[in-house]
Amino acid sequence: MVGSSGSGKSTLLNMIGLLDQPTNGKVFIDGTDTTLLDDGKVSSFRNKKLGFIFQFSNLLSDLTVLENVLLPRQIAGTNETSEKDASELLSAVGLESQMNKRANKISGGQAQRAAIARGLINNPSIVLADEPTGNLDSVTSEKIVNLLKSMAKKLNQTFIIVTHDREHFGDVDRVITIKDGRAFEGDLPSQMEVVA
Ligand SMILES: Nc1ncnc2c1ncn2[C@@H]1O[C@H](COP(=O)(O)OP(=O)(O)OP(=O)(O)O)[C@@H](O)[C@H]1O
Ligand SMILES: [Mg+2]
Repeated sequence: MVGSSGSGKSTLLNMIGLLDQPTNGKVFIDGTDTTLLDDGKVSSFRNKKLGFIFQFSNLLSDLTVLENVLLPRQIAGTNETSEKDASELLSAVGLESQMNKRANKISGGQAQRAAIARGLINNPSIVLADEPTGNLDSVTSEKIVNLLKSMAKKLNQTFIIVTHDREHFGDVDRVITIKDGRAFEGDLPSQMEVVA
């Protein structure tokens, strides 16, 4: 999802992520009309169905990398495979040698990799990422972009990614451009078909 600053990308992402409520319209996820869920159900739905990756990794600095990745699983209800699942994800994002380090002892790019693993730990239906490379240098950005694309393919999960960095992402399944709060299919200005 691309579009100029203030166009409404984060607002849309936050509505899909059930962090904000739409004043108009409904949000359906996996066939559920989420606007009908009460607060308790929204929290558990969010925890189980959605994974979040933000511009800043927001890791808890006193916990280890592994413990950070396990947090959403603990909220959902830990099971016997939790640690194994977290270690596997951390290996997949190239952090197997860092998992027992405290989160404030790793680099920005490594922290963002850990945040990706944390976003995936509950096997969400949809992963939402708001400018996941916005705080990284271009070499690290490229690595994170490649990681996100390979994880999306490998896990066959839907990733909705907001970015100012369209060219880094190259080929993706779908591009939505947000302009003045409206969504258009594809990269503007080549196509202007309104989708929402
Ligand atoms: N809580 C809010 N209440 C009222 N207006 C808001 C609120 N949050 C954002 N806005 C406004 O809604 C519009 C869209 O903001 P949004 O944060 O979604 O933009 P964005 O496309 O993510 O921009 P950026 O690329 O700078 O992150 C802006 O005009 C913003 O000022
Ligand atoms: Mg934004």
